[in-house]
Parts: sequence; structure tokens; C-alpha cells
Amino acid sequence: MRKNIVAGNWKMNTTLQEGIALAKELNEALANVTPNCDVVVCTPFTHLTSVVNTVDTKKIGVGAENCADKAAGAYTGEVSASMVASTGAKYVIIGHSERRAYYHETNDILKEKTLLALANGLTPIFCIGEVLEEREAGKHFDVVKKQVEESLFGLSSEDFGKLILAYEPVWAIGTGKTASAEQAEEIHAFIRKTIADKYGKEVAENISILYGGSCKPSNAKELFAKENVDGGLIGGAALDAASFMGIITAF
Ligand code: 13P
Repeated sequence: MRKNIVAGNWKMNTTLQEGIALAKELNEALANVTPNCDVVVCTPFTHLTSVVNTVDTKKIGVGAENCADKAAGAYTGEVSASMVASTGAKYVIIGHSERRAYYHETNDILKEKTLLALANGLTPIFCIGEVLEEREAGKHFDVVKKQVEESLFGLSSEDFGKLILAYEPVWAIGTGKTASAEQAEEIHAFIRKTIADKYGKEVAENISILYGGSCKPSNAKELFAKENVDGGLIGGAALDAASFMGIITAF
């Protein structure tokens, strides 16, 4: 059966020293706890090696927040999936709405990133979600379907089964405005049905679909109680070990 997962996305926050301190705090908080979910922290590239060396990686998976859409070569400033993997990181966030909006990452670019992540043994945490205008126009189902179809439906069912999906409505990210548990369940169920129609029920039932967008200790329990919500991708609340622990223990 599919896994419950709570993953943190630190975004462009913390210096290396602050990141190590946060990782240490989280590691200590988890030392005597057996959570009912997998725990992942996705950090800036510069922090990966240090965070891998700071935490018990059997308990806390480490991931990057992005990777390049090219394998190697003259792409100044880019960081490849193989470089990420060489730090000991096991996960990579792909297609976060901030990358789609601010760095113009298209469904085609995200397809390449996903292939390279998988080829290097990383687990992609692939993000999808609509903006407010699309939600208000009732287009959110079509938007997420297109994102999944165009970036991911070229994968074999074996590779598709290696993904983690994260539904993050853009209007809920960093706004304090969370999707209701019912709104999350409705679209997660739709995403799972879309996957079932393409890859069959077994693949669809086994894939974890996380919710992201102003998830915090006070609302995590209600969201995670929904059948098709298999955990969270956490921004702001992941920068505080106690808050992140509050979300982890919501399972
Ligand atoms: P917040 O939890 O800060 O709303 O961010 C969500 C997010 O974008 C995680 O990737």
C-alpha cells in the first residue's frame, strides 16, 4: 500500500549553518519517535551534503528542491540530477509552482527533469496545482490533468510508480489560506482516477499524493484523515522543528 509522507521544502531559506542547526534539531526530535510516515527534508543545493551527514538518513530522507533539465555540460550555474544524487540525497522536488511561475519551467522541461531524476535513482516529488483564477473558473481539474499528462504520461508504469505527487494549489502557498480537507480530497481523488485511467488501478492506488499549501500542525490532522491525502509538502512550517514535528505527528 502507498506510504504516508511528510516532506519539508525549505525553499530559499537558511544559511548553511542555520540549515545544519535545523536538521540537527529535527533529528534530535525524531530520535526517540517512530513516526507513522516517511519524513523528508528538501534543502538548498548548498546544504545537501551537510544535511545528509547531520541526520539519520534511515529516518529522514534528504532531497533537493530542483535539478537541471540537462545531464551535464556547459550550463553555467545549473545543478544536475547526478550531482544531487552524489551528495547522498534521495529525493528531488520537480515542478514547484514557484519554479513554473518565476523561472518559466514548462511541462516539457519538467518532463526532462523527471527523466533525469529517475535515471539517477532519485525519487521525484512532482508538484502540480492551479492558480486562483483557474480555481475560480472551475478549471482546476483540467489544469492538473494537463500538468500530469504532459510531463508524466510518457513514463512507463514502472517509472510512474516511483513518483511522489504533490498537489499544491498556488493560492494556498504561503498565504495562510489552506484548501479545505474536502477540496483537497476532491482533487486528490480526481488525480488518482486520472492515473488509474492511464496506468490502471494498482499503480494509482500505490502512489502517494501529498497536499501542500499553508499546511500546519493545526490543520494537518484533518487533511491527512482524508482517504486520498497521503501526507504533506510543507513550506513555512518546515522551517521550525517543533511545527514540522507537529505535522509529522498528525499521522
Ligand atoms: P507553505 O507551507 O509555506 O504554504 O508552502 C507550501 C509549499 O510551497 C511547499 O512546497
